[in-house]
Amino acid sequence: MLELVSKVHDETRQGEAFAPFTVDPNPYKRHFYIESYGCQMNFSDSEIVASILNEEGFGATRNFEEADLIFLNTCSIREKAEQTVRKRLTEFRKLKQARPGLLVGVLGCMAERLKSKFLEEEKLVDIVVGPDAYRTLPNLITEADGGQKAINVLLSREETYADISPVRLNSNGITAFVSIMRGCNNMCSFCVVPFTRGRERSRDAQSILNECQDLFDRGYKEVTLLGQNVDSYYYIAEGATQPVTFANLLERVALISPELRVRFSTSHPKDITDDVLATMAKYENICRYIHLPLQSGSTRVLQLMNRSYSREWYKAKVDRIREYMPDCGISSDIIAGFCTETEADHQDTLDVMRYARYDMSYMFFYSERPGTLAQRRYEDDIPEDVKKRRLQEIVEMQNKLSAESNRQDLGKIFKVLIEGNSKRSELDWMGRNSQNKVIVFAKEQYDLKPGDYVQVTVHDCTQATLLGKITS
Ligand code: SAH
Ligand code: SF4
Ligand code: F3S
Repeated sequence: MLELVSKVHDETRQGEAFAPFTVDPNPYKRHFYIESYGCQMNFSDSEIVASILNEEGFGATRNFEEADLIFLNTCSIREKAEQTVRKRLTEFRKLKQARPGLLVGVLGCMAERLKSKFLEEEKLVDIVVGPDAYRTLPNLITEADGGQKAINVLLSREETYADISPVRLNSNGITAFVSIMRGCNNMCSFCVVPFTRGRERSRDAQSILNECQDLFDRGYKEVTLLGQNVDSYYYIAEGATQPVTFANLLERVALISPELRVRFSTSHPKDITDDVLATMAKYENICRYIHLPLQSGSTRVLQLMNRSYSREWYKAKVDRIREYMPDCGISSDIIAGFCTETEADHQDTLDVMRYARYDMSYMFFYSERPGTLAQRRYEDDIPEDVKKRRLQEIVEMQNKLSAESNRQDLGKIFKVLIEGNSKRSELDWMGRNSQNKVIVFAKEQYDLKPGDYVQVTVHDCTQATLLGKITS
């Protein structure tokens, strides 16, 4: 962001020599405000959108009251996610009535799912843009300025925004997301993503490496490679005979520097290979952490979900990860109350959770999504109170497992990457260990800064955080 501002300033200064009195101290004529919902991919897309808008002379602002354009980058994964966006739009309505020139745009998955229906339903929305159409935003803004409703929700088989260098929004300057692929071909029956993000495609490997190298050169110390299903990354450069697999890519990113930590998300249990595990084990800077969504522990339910693995396969995968990396952190996504789920199926889920000893999980109750396979094929037949009770039991199980996992860490020494001050006190640092656990520790007399690595001994823990002390 700062770099872009200074680039524009430089250009203005060139003009200054010729016409000193026409210099505009504010390089941007109009400002946009962008709010992101949903997964990391959406947050990463907002950084691409910011870059496209910057190029067109729009500056980012963190204050929507001073914005000329307000964008919501939306999520459709559960009904509640869509409700949150609708509510937010009603809040912007008053602002728009008070300022007729203000444009409101909806980006992302909800834009893609609802298409022009959005413009009919939400009269005060001016622009609707799907995830593959962000390059057309400048034209759409011009159309909307002219008083037309502007929409582009075309999905693409090629678009990866490979050449666009994202503007890092709300960045701590230490950790960054790098998108390596888009879309998803998996068709899990509960999931709306294949419909909102289209077919899977992998981004040019060299452009990924360039972006990671550039981040490292600018002082970043951690990159998280993002995709809905990173293990199916597959790229063949023009003229090349060998493809780049995810294991290859991971290795090449890790080789940028031992000082650059590499993470990735999300792995599908059916696709994560021994090659990936071996590559992780080989490089200390590839973090010992895998997000391996289970969804359900019942083979029957997994089949209905179209997840293409059984509970036994999943448990064997967990064993395999621990064979390669005994200290690897594992987390999960779990859905309670999918169609036809019995008490026995639910117990199977709790059972696999116990087996996998998750450090952390994201837990949801099933929310039927229009157009998905499950919506068309199965009845959403588990009553809400049962879904909620089962979810509660899953949450309680996870709390127990997290507490246990944290207790296991007492007395251990971890290499921590400092990300910034702790939320509670400026006298404490906050960072993460390789396993992705947050560790808070006193700064003491040491002269450290964000981006530094430090050895920390854990002496206490809360449910979500480890507490430590610098080991000198
Ligand atoms: N690509 C990732 C997940 C993307 S969505 C993967 O395959 O794991 C993130 C999580 O939202 C999913 O893992 C799932 O647990 C949850 N989710 C997706 N659709 C859902 C639905 N209809 N109801 C409840 N949770 C859902
Ligand atoms: Fe959705 Fe399944 Fe694709 Fe994940 S892998 S995005 S859950 S369809
Ligand atoms: Fe939501 Fe779209 Fe991500 S539906 S979870 S923002 S891919």
